[in-house]
Amino acid sequence: MSFHVNEKGFYGNFGGAYIPEMLYPNVEELRQNYLKITADKSFQKEFHELLKDYVGRPTPLYFAERLSKEYNTKIYLKREDLCHTGAHKVNNTIGQILLAKRLGKTRIIAETGAGQHGVATATVCALMGLQCIVYMGEIDIKRQAPNVARMKMLGAEVRPATSGSKTLKDATNEAIRDWINNPIDTYYIIGSVVGPHPYPDMVARFQSVISEEIKAQLLEKEGQENPDYVIACVGGGSNAAGTFYHFLDEKEVNIIAVEAAGKGIDSGESAATSALGKIGIIHGSKTLLMQSPDGQITEPYSISAGLDYPGVGPMHAHLFETKRAEFISITDDEAMNWGIKMSQTEGIIPAIESAHAFAVLDKKKFKTADIVVINLSGRGDKDLNTYIDYFKL
Ligand SMILES: Cc1ncc(COP(=O)(O)O)c(C=O)c1O
Repeated sequence: MSFHVNEKGFYGNFGGAYIPEMLYPNVEELRQNYLKITADKSFQKEFHELLKDYVGRPTPLYFAERLSKEYNTKIYLKREDLCHTGAHKVNNTIGQILLAKRLGKTRIIAETGAGQHGVATATVCALMGLQCIVYMGEIDIKRQAPNVARMKMLGAEVRPATSGSKTLKDATNEAIRDWINNPIDTYYIIGSVVGPHPYPDMVARFQSVISEEIKAQLLEKEGQENPDYVIACVGGGSNAAGTFYHFLDEKEVNIIAVEAAGKGIDSGESAATSALGKIGIIHGSKTLLMQSPDGQITEPYSISAGLDYPGVGPMHAHLFETKRAEFISITDDEAMNWGIKMSQTEGIIPAIESAHAFAVLDKKKFKTADIVVINLSGRGDKDLNTYIDYFKL
């Protein structure tokens, strides 16, 4: 069974490109060119040089000694929090901005939830001297204020999305609307493995540097390339796709995807797509999606802005359906407590999104000899206000 995209843009039953006719030329231009351009030697050279010298890759694979002792297993953290701009998102924006330049585009748009993708997009636009407009839900603008300020400092325009839940889904709708209105000069840098084909595959490829590095680093540290478990949180699914990518076909590697249960799966305030979702179409892709019986999208909720999305990327829907990955959902409270626990056990303040992934340590029993790799997708600086309010710090 294949866990990669097929020629038509599908992962099993999921994926494809369900787009309005107005978007067809843009998406088709991308589909016809993305593999050719990204495989080009000069592209690869520029991409890897920027990842090394600008982003700071390879990020460390850190053996978390105190955590490992407490849970009686071997826990490694992949330190994407140490990437320039504070999260994995920049791996993808570097790749896409190089692609946009080669396609001759001069105006960049993006959507953002936690603001990390917006910051990463504003950063690469500044780096390349391109105009940048970031759509962001009004609620996210409030809860991620430091990232809004960073985007503005970097020269980006932040446009509020005021419809629906005023979060990531609505920001994505606005960005798609903009793209339809500006089809010639504009490139849309999508921030996760979502959207119409070829975006999910393209973003997964750019993020796959994470698992490529994990393999080399484990070989050096443990004498083997494959861990027993890889664990990552899933919003749209890009850090997870990158963490899983080179292990998808390695049957002995267990894959765990972690979703936000919000206030509880059955609370009506959740973003646990695998538990609650049904097949549907969102943002140009057929995938699992939280929806009412008549097909209206259910407003998602999570304390973490980056996991607050009513769907998952089609790759993850396929991993769920085929049971290649185990999906576990973690509540706000569990994740927030892990924010404190990571801070005080390892001296690392995690993004609230990443804190969800650590909470799996309380849900599953690992063997002493197991090698467990958890992707620490981002740092917690952007979440300080949420931590302060929650814990009355
Ligand atoms: C630190 C961090 N982790 C995870 C995510 C979730 O996104 P994805 O599932 O695409 O990795 C975000 C999204 O903004 C994020 O900022």
